[in-house]
This record gives sequence, C-alpha cells and structure tokens, in this order.
Amino acid sequence: MIRSIAIDGPAGAGKSTIAKSIAKTKGFVYVDTGAMYRAMGLYYMNNGVAPDDTKKIEEMIDEIDVSIVYENGEQIVLLNGENVNSKIRTPEVGNMASGVSTNSAVRKKMVSLQQQLAKKRSVVMDGRDIGTVVLPDAMVKIFLTASVDVRTERRFEELKAKGIDCDKAKLREEIIERDYRDTHRENSPLKKADDAVEVDTTELTVEEVVGEILDIAESKGL
Ligand code: DC
Repeated sequence: MIRSIAIDGPAGAGKSTIAKSIAKTKGFVYVDTGAMYRAMGLYYMNNGVAPDDTKKIEEMIDEIDVSIVYENGEQIVLLNGENVNSKIRTPEVGNMASGVSTNSAVRKKMVSLQQQLAKKRSVVMDGRDIGTVVLPDAMVKIFLTASVDVRTERRFEELKAKGIDCDKAKLREEIIERDYRDTHRENSPLKKADDAVEVDTTELTVEEVVGEILDIAESKGL
C-alpha cells in the first residue's frame, strides 16, 4: 500500500533534515518540493524574468521541464535535463522561488508533478502546501515551526557548511520577508492543515523531533 507523510512549515524549521531521517527510517522516498520551486526560480532568474512578471512567467512555462531522479538515495532535480542541485541553494534562488511560487500556473505545474510522484511510491514530502493541497489525504501531517532566530542560525550554518558566505542579519530579514510572502500569497499559502500536528523545534534536537514524529506516525497506524 502506498502511504504518505506530509511535512510543512516555514523556511529553516528543519523540514528537510527531519523529513530525510523519517524517510530513511520508514523506507519511504523523500521528496523536497522546495527544490522544485527553486529550479523554476533558477530558470526564470537565468532568463532575466522578474518574480512578479506574470505575463513572462506564464509565456515561458512550457519551456521548463522539472523532474526528479534519485541517485544513491539522494534527490536530484533536473532542470531541462541538467542536474541543478548545486545551483539552487543560494538565498537569491530561494527568494526567486518564493516569488515565482505565488504564480498559479507555476503551482499547478509543480503540484501535478508532486502528486504523480506520490502516486508511485510511499513518500515523506516536505514543503508549504503538502498537507493542505498536494496530499490532503496524507496519513500523517506535521506542521514544523521554530523561532525566527533559531531558523536563521540553522540556515546560516547550513549555508556555511556548503561554502556559501552570507550576512546573518540580512539572512534573518530575508527569512522574515519570505515567511510573509509564503503565508500571505493568494494561491495555497503556507498554513497548518486542520488535521496537522504542530511540532515546535526551537528547543528540540533533531533526534527528539524525529522521535516525536515517529510516535505520531505510529499512533496513526503508520
Ligand atoms: O523550502 P524551500 O526554502 O527550499 O522553498 C523555497 C520556496 O519555494 C519557498 O519560499 C516557497 C516555495 N515553496 C512553495 O511555495 N511550496 C512548496 N511546497 C515548497 C516551496
């Protein structure tokens, strides 16, 4: 039987680290939907399209093919056939992804791709609208949060580990801006699904969060 776990939450709440670990424990496939929006954002950025240029975004949308493959258990995002994993993690691409993800044509394309992936295998999928829109029937829905300061610190360390240097104060401002855009957009805004369980990770270690979610999953028969 195909089953799914949906993990939503704001930037830097720890979604990908937690989702990867849960997927490994459960033997499910981890799907990072933010990476797909980042690939879309990268394409428009490279083509000089502004994130609010609806006309150009919609004119060009059929030129873009985003797909997902797995190599040694790692998700590889292909943008028109090119592996763009090493290009999509910068704050610039994150902001661009947040901008273009407000467009309904972009969302429609990505949601359809994500739903197809979840039809083929059991997934742990993370994003902003997984429990509300992409997988409304997911057996387990988690809404992951943490304070802005802790999320900034985590993003800063994550970028540093990847050799990407950035200003912490600016990163904090960008996270606040991105939260605002992601929660106030008209199309599928970031919000907790009515049947999601909120887990605040501010004071918790990765192991503690994973343990809590595995307990929730078990209580739901998963
Ligand atoms: O999770 P992330 O930081 O990689 O996501 C980048 C942006 O993509 C995020 O700011 C909003 C958008 N996004 C979305 O709209 N819906 C999703 N399911 C995942 C990401």
